[in-house]
Formats: sequence, C-alpha cells, structure tokens
Amino acid sequence: MSPLTLTEPQRQALLQAARAAQRMAYAPYSRYPVGAAVLDEQGHIHAGCNVENAAYPEGLCAEAAALSAMVLAGGQRARAVLVVGNGGQNHSAWTTPCGGCRQKLREFGAADLPIFCANNTQLGPSYTLAQLLPESFGPDHLSKP
Ligand code: THU
Repeated sequence: MSPLTLTEPQRQALLQAARAAQRMAYAPYSRYPVGAAVLDEQGHIHAGCNVENAAYPEGLCAEAAALSAMVLAGGQRARAVLVVGNGGQNHSAWTTPCGGCRQKLREFGAADLPIFCANNTQLGPSYTLAQLLPESFGPDHLSKP
C-alpha cells in the first residue's frame, strides 16, 4: 500500500487514534508529547504515546509503543503510520520518527510504507520509509537464500 491507496477515512482514523494517544503521553521532562498510530495488514489501528523516564535514556518513543501494541494484538505488518507532535506551526519542524524508530518501523514495514506527519491542527508532509531510511538494513538481510 502506498500513500495514494490509503483511503481518506483510514487516514482520518489514524489521525484520531494518534491524537488520542498524544493526549495520554507522559512527557514531563521534554514537554514534547507525541502520539503515533499504525495501520496493520488487517486494517486494525494501534496507537502509542511517548513515555519518558527520570533516567532519560530509558524513555520510550510513541512509534515504538504503537508497534508494541500492534505485535501484542497479532498484527504482523505496518501498512501506514501517522505521527503527531508539536511541530509544524509554532515550532520549527514537523515531528518525523527518530532514527531508532525508523529502524523499528523497518522491521515491520516495506520500503513504500507511508509515514504521515501531523500536528494538533493539521496533517503535514508524508514520506515513505525508504525516504527516511535509505539503503537500510532489515530482516531480509538475515534470511537464508
Ligand atoms: N519522540 C517520540 O516519541 N517519537 C519521535 O519520533 C521523536 C521523539 C519523543 C521522545 C521524547 O519523549 C520526546 O519526544 C522528545 O524527544
């Protein structure tokens, strides 16, 4: 599935799920709440929020939480992702997945996995996973010939 084949109702459902998750974010240190929603191969949506920690590196990103929810629910592939952060209007940039999350998405998504960015008021730019993580390393590198 490419960004073009994602239906508008699916995109709106992803947006609502990610925003609901963002409202639950635990981000007392950065004050940068993030929500993410993943559409799986069965059409189910799984959401996650960032969960920070007083030992800062132990914090969890929203995308990682959403992928965990997908796996827990039996989803096997990510077909689309939407990330909501504070960027895009009064802030300098849209929230795009951090490097670690790009690699985590690579585990469950194809090169053309669409990743939508949004803020609290609007949808922003979208990218494919290959755009955000070119020449990537993934499970296929480890599979036997
Ligand atoms: N964060 C995410 O949850 N996802 C991203 O892709 C970017 C960053 C979180 C981590 C941290 O809790 C806060 O945003 C500020 O970096």
